[in-house]
Amino acid sequence: MTQAELEAVEIELVLEALCRRSGYDFRSYARASVTRRLRQLMEQKGIDHASALIPKLLHEPVFLHELLAAFSVTVSAMFRDPDFWCSLRENVIPLLQTYPHVRAWVAGCACGEEAYSLAILFKEEGLLAKSTIYATDISDRNLAAAKAGIYPLRHVREYSQNYQKSGPQDTFSSYSHASHDHIIMNRDLKKRITFANHNLAADQVFAEMHLILCRNVMIYFNQDLKNQVLGLLSNSLIRGGFLCLGTKESLLFSILGPGGWNEIDSRNKIYRKRIRDNGDDEGAL
Ligand SMILES: C[S@@+](CC[C@H](N)C(=O)[O-])C[C@H]1O[C@@H](n2cnc3c(N)ncnc32)[C@H](O)[C@@H]1O
Repeated sequence: MTQAELEAVEIELVLEALCRRSGYDFRSYARASVTRRLRQLMEQKGIDHASALIPKLLHEPVFLHELLAAFSVTVSAMFRDPDFWCSLRENVIPLLQTYPHVRAWVAGCACGEEAYSLAILFKEEGLLAKSTIYATDISDRNLAAAKAGIYPLRHVREYSQNYQKSGPQDTFSSYSHASHDHIIMNRDLKKRITFANHNLAADQVFAEMHLILCRNVMIYFNQDLKNQVLGLLSNSLIRGGFLCLGTKESLLFSILGPGGWNEIDSRNKIYRKRIRDNGDDEGAL
């Protein structure tokens, strides 16, 4: 057996142990990304062989949390990919405005940046008061940060620039207040967001959503898991509901295929679930 083959076996055993110990199943995550993260952690800890992670994750609760955190890539930003937010404002919001109540789900919300961006957009478009935004993530640590809605002041410049490019009606600073070296998001936004733990790989559908954002999450999954999650997202949407996958994903190569969906924005991967089975949605809202 080569060193690489040996490492592959060890990593499989680590993921199996992690799944049994914590219930979190990373066996269907893209292996290259999992390997990279485990190697980083091993280097930090001065561990030579991946199999040496197994007794630590089984017996040291603190290490188990570190390992789970290593798998949680939390990179995000308010109004990340401003072009996506412009498109949402232009192509999706006018239809959402026709509903008496709007249910939106931000799946894989990291530390809440995307959920607060959506709440700001909804507020500007007169939707916030009649909406419920669910924001979920696999990581309790991320969710605690998201609920707090506190972000380092050093990020504000990037957030404001993104916001300004998203077709806004105000200034970013009117949605938060500064406190020492942080900003705190306004309470009226927080009030409309329900943060909860939800594992896309293992948990159930969210019922009757009008809009789902799941951007930069499935890039870490292998194709089987992507297909499974896309099925779950599709089943969570009403007919005529919108699915936003972000620039890095596509429905075209998944199990769902392009049938059953209307492509609203090919670059930003915004799709609308067809209202009628025959695909003739002409005249339907
Ligand atoms: C790179 S962040 C993306 C954040 C945000 N959606 C964005 O585009 O800026 C990926 C998030 O997905 C979460 N995640 C990874 N696997 C998940 C799973 N199985 N279920 C739910 N969330 C998951 C991670 O914890 C992380 O917060």
